[in-house]
Amino acid sequence: MLKFSVYVIIIAVLIGAAVGGWHLHRVAQKNAEEMAQYEGNAITPRPLNGKTLVVYYSLSGYTKDIAQRIQSMTQADIYEIKTAEKIDTTPWFYLTLKKQLADENYPALSGNMPDFSQYDTIFVGGPVWWYTVSTPMRAFLQKANFMGKKVVPFSTQGSNFGTYFDDFAKLAKNAKLQRSASFNNLPAKYNQAVNNKIASWLNNL
Ligand SMILES: Cc1cc2nc3c(=O)[nH]c(=O)nc-3n(C[C@H](O)[C@H](O)[C@H](O)COP(=O)(O)O)c2cc1C
Repeated sequence: MLKFSVYVIIIAVLIGAAVGGWHLHRVAQKNAEEMAQYEGNAITPRPLNGKTLVVYYSLSGYTKDIAQRIQSMTQADIYEIKTAEKIDTTPWFYLTLKKQLADENYPALSGNMPDFSQYDTIFVGGPVWWYTVSTPMRAFLQKANFMGKKVVPFSTQGSNFGTYFDDFAKLAKNAKLQRSASFNNLPAKYNQAVNNKIASWLNNL
């Protein structure tokens, strides 16, 4: 009986690894297809009208990287959403954060809100958590009133943004929403292509 259970566990682990490996392979293939569109010479972004602000939340640095690229291409001001307490990243934090999302239990933020009245265009970006908007971004959006300003949402994610943009649209009060963009986590070999993706998005706003 014990031997049988061991076989079942080994088979389950092997199936899990095969499914996981297949998923990663498909994601890498899709990323390569998407990035192939942006290879080639650097695209020059056209300047945006008026003053621009980039607001972002980032737990592990991916969104920060995209936010900084947008900032440097648009000569924008930048504002980082910070939680008052560090987000717990112990091994089970994925599940803790899932529960906090379900319970609408959002973290307190530190610092003052930015003064949106100074800006014409406001980029707002964050990571996808469980196919939706992260809890710190939700805390920020609860406090924000975009006062009819142009708001350009962007996200970063492993591979699937789920309902992020629909949910963002419901949460962003008085935002005049513009074309959004989402960015998968990519290896450094796509750096130039990602810049071109951002530049062509900016040129189509
Ligand atoms: C709690 C949690 C949930 C996540 N859920 C998703 C998801 O549903 N879909 C996805 O593609 N990536 C998901 N990810 C991966 C992040 O969205 C991705 O790595 C993102 O770029 C991280 O951004 P940051 O480094 O700015 O925090 C999740 C990450 C965390 C921590």
